[in-house]
Amino acid sequence: MGQLDGRVAFITGGARGQGRAHALALAAEGADVVVTDIAADLPGLRYPLATPGQLAETVKLIEEYGVRAAGLQVDARDSEQINAAVAQTVADFGRIDILLANHGVVDFSTVEQTTDELWNAVVETNLTGIFKAIRAVIPQMRAQKYGRIIATASMGARNAAPNLGHYIAAKWGVIGLVKTTALEVAGDGITVNVVAPGAVDTDLFFNQPTYDVFLPDVINPTEADFRKRLDDLDYGLNGVRFLQPEDVSRAVLYLVTDRGLMTGQVLEIGLGTSAHGIY
Ligand SMILES: NC(=O)c1ccc[n+]([C@@H]2O[C@H](COP(=O)([O-])OP(=O)(O)OC[C@H]3O[C@@H](n4cnc5c(N)ncnc54)[C@H](O)[C@@H]3O)[C@@H](O)[C@H]2O)c1
Repeated sequence: MGQLDGRVAFITGGARGQGRAHALALAAEGADVVVTDIAADLPGLRYPLATPGQLAETVKLIEEYGVRAAGLQVDARDSEQINAAVAQTVADFGRIDILLANHGVVDFSTVEQTTDELWNAVVETNLTGIFKAIRAVIPQMRAQKYGRIIATASMGARNAAPNLGHYIAAKWGVIGLVKTTALEVAGDGITVNVVAPGAVDTDLFFNQPTYDVFLPDVINPTEADFRKRLDDLDYGLNGVRFLQPEDVSRAVLYLVTDRGLMTGQVLEIGLGTSAHGIY
């Protein structure tokens, strides 16, 4: 018997990375899981997002746990698409108990050099898209008198870092959105919380724009150069420089199995960095 038998989860940005790891963690506990993802690249970003093939692969991996799964290509920035996906999930699976508003994108630019296009790509995805996903599930969760909503922010929302003004502004915004929503739905059995990971071993962190910004002294830096530089830094906890997606899944599982006493919280999975104020 799993802790989530009979529960239905809806995940944004679930085709790969943390979203996929969370999908499998919930499936392992017996939840049926609907994974959604834009599964297409975004103009203005300099690294690839997930593909339809990765979305299909995640569905297959979920089904290996013997639960029901579906994969929907959904752009979380688009109200019609996200509302339709929620309606389809309720029609096909009967309910939505868990929302993981997890999708996100990154790029690097100083505030001074950020174009309108980049600002909009990051903020509409990382803040507005999270708002639209949360808004879409609330009526169903209120009707059920039960819901567990978790939005993914970042340790960047406990602090700041150069070149990430768009990303960090959006992630701080997610915390404000979640705390407000938590108060608004508290009477209906719905909790709303944030997970705030530090750097995670996914394509959002390991990509060419990251190597370029963190290794300005290296010509054409590669992933190997970047991993070596991370190893050389006096950073991390117990020899761990960055998280694996499954480290964040454990925090997600903790919040979705809570009996309803934690809400409006930010759960940091941050290698202790906020203790001394260094991101
Ligand atoms: N990787 C890190 O270092 C790190 C650190 C802190 C927080 N985060 C956050 O964790 C979350 C998951 O990211 P990840 O690390 O798994 O990276 P990832 O790139 O592997 O996954 C993000 C997913 O979101 C999808 N996506 C992007 N825009 C979308 C949209 N408009 N609608 C639907 N799906 C969309 C992408 O296709 C991708 O599959 C993000 O919110 C990210 O900001 C990541």
